[in-house]
Amino acid sequence: MGVLLANFIPEDKIEEIKNAADIVEVVSEYVLLKKTGRNYNGLCPFHSEKTPSFTVSPEKQIFHCFGCSTGGNVFSFLMKQDGLSFPESVRFLARRYGIDLPRPEMTGKMRQQVSEREQLYKINRDAMDFFHGKLVGGSQGDKAMVYLKRRGFSREIIDRFYLGYAPDAWDALLNYLKHKRVPAEMIEKAGLVIARKDKNGFYDRFRNRIIFPILNMSRQTVGFGGRVMDDSLPKYLNSPETPVYNKRRLLYGLYAARNKCREEGSVYIVEGYFDQLALYQRGVENAAATLGTALTPEHIHLMKGFVKRAVLIFDSDEAGLKASERSVGMFVSEGVEVHVVMLPKGHDPDSYISEFGPEAFYKLAGNALEVMSFLMTTAEKKHGLSVNGKLAILEDLRRPLASIEDVNPRQLYIKELSERLGIDESAVLEKVRETIAVLKREHEIQARRAERFTPPAESMTIHKKRAQKSRAENRLEQQIVAMMLQYPEMLLEIEKSNVLDYFMDNTLLFIGKLILEHPPGTEKGISNLMSMVDDAEKRNILASLSIKEEMWNQRDCRKIISKLISHSPKRHEISLKAQISAAERENNQDLVLKLLGELQKITVLNRKQMNDVLKEH
Ligand code: CTP
Ligand code: MN
Repeated sequence: MGVLLANFIPEDKIEEIKNAADIVEVVSEYVLLKKTGRNYNGLCPFHSEKTPSFTVSPEKQIFHCFGCSTGGNVFSFLMKQDGLSFPESVRFLARRYGIDLPRPEMTGKMRQQVSEREQLYKINRDAMDFFHGKLVGGSQGDKAMVYLKRRGFSREIIDRFYLGYAPDAWDALLNYLKHKRVPAEMIEKAGLVIARKDKNGFYDRFRNRIIFPILNMSRQTVGFGGRVMDDSLPKYLNSPETPVYNKRRLLYGLYAARNKCREEGSVYIVEGYFDQLALYQRGVENAAATLGTALTPEHIHLMKGFVKRAVLIFDSDEAGLKASERSVGMFVSEGVEVHVVMLPKGHDPDSYISEFGPEAFYKLAGNALEVMSFLMTTAEKKHGLSVNGKLAILEDLRRPLASIEDVNPRQLYIKELSERLGIDESAVLEKVRETIAVLKREHEIQARRAERFTPPAESMTIHKKRAQKSRAENRLEQQIVAMMLQYPEMLLEIEKSNVLDYFMDNTLLFIGKLILEHPPGTEKGISNLMSMVDDAEKRNILASLSIKEEMWNQRDCRKIISKLISHSPKRHEISLKAQISAAERENNQDLVLKLLGELQKITVLNRKQMNDVLKEH
């Protein structure tokens, strides 16, 4: 993250935004928070968990997860949650809290410095406006408008979701964006044009299609889907993966569904753009569509902050079954309930709600089976309850059951299945255990294969573990930094004692020095301090040490400081050296040798510790 970028937004504006924004309010949009004492708690959006360890402090305006140690202020939250850069998160909050930001005229050089992602959002936004304009204004889009109207979509829905039309030409969008001085290479990077085979220029990817802009949870336009208006193929074209478009992390329409999801506690997951739109138009606003891909854990992370239940709606038995089987374990480990609805043959959500209306839809969804019951029922229908049928059912269900990592829900399901089949519970359990072992082996093989091809950046986890270990050994240093953050009365004494000089952990040392240079003063000061730290790992530590409330008093603080100094191996080293000089002066060779031996031992130890610390960075 560039400091240069942050400079495009004046410091006083950042300050103003920080004062206006409330972290509880912002986080609440993503995470269901409950007040517990002075803080708020919820399920962490950054890792899988079922008991809340994600904590937000309204006083300090910071968050911290006791489970995965992620932490920061309101800007870092948005950066992490929505994958924004720092200036993006500032702009987002400015928009939200109605604070005007000056938009400086950019010189060529500045333009280069603006992050690529921001440029891509801008290009996509321009393209979206272009397509939408073509659909609703002028004659080119008439055909597309007629098509949408014929399929029952209102002007309101067309505008709300910025539906568009890509003209029947090779360079309509290309020329439009070129006029806006967007470099062709960037338009290509956004996936909107394709390089010609002869490398001589580019042509529009989307031609003569209805356009569905895809927006992320921060309402930034990140990609597009395009549908033909007849039977030609391919029926749909989508944006390729770009730095801002990753279909494994996006659900179409979820940004618009969020409020209704929170009200209802549930979300309908459908497969098509038109399915989501048709439901929305008829008041079923809590729906989102996968983008031609299977559900992923990242999809669940997006929604688990505001739903307790996901209802998967499928139109074909085979695909629905496969998807349900695969999603069981995933949803259980995220603590989100899943239900499954199979529509009558020949229908998808769009055709169903258009023909039968929302009441019928709600009735059908109300009868949705919980996913394991759904799988059991489906298997029973398919195989029957003969002896062979029962064995086949067990065979169908062993993998979904084994994919549930948590023992308790798994056990309950095993019990349910054994009762339904009239088989001994231990027999089912045995089958599932076997399968767990098989899955585990498969995972290991995959992991080993992945490891062999792991780029250096991914072996970070090992570094992280080592860092965590040596940090645990530095409990005193942590306590001192926590004290500096929570009990500023001690700052002067800490500075005078030079206790930071004895720190072995470079990260804690860095944070300690930063605090001395910029004493937080007020509680909001901690959030300010956080803005000065570019490194996410350091921010996490800063948040974790600020949020754990301890009862401080001067006496205990002094004890901790002197304990660190006297226990410090560095201190020991310094004192040994002094003793050696003294012994040399007295010509006591035996003592010199003995002390030298000791010194050697601890310098090896110190160096080893130093190395460990250095390796972390
Ligand atoms: N899809 C895709 N590429 C294709 C076909 C489908 O990306 N070649 C994705 C689209 O996101 C589409 C969804 O899968 O919305 C479902 O496809 P399908 O059921 O075929 O289309 P519908 O959404 O029902 O569209 P329509 O009602 O216009 O047929
Ligand atoms: Mn359809």
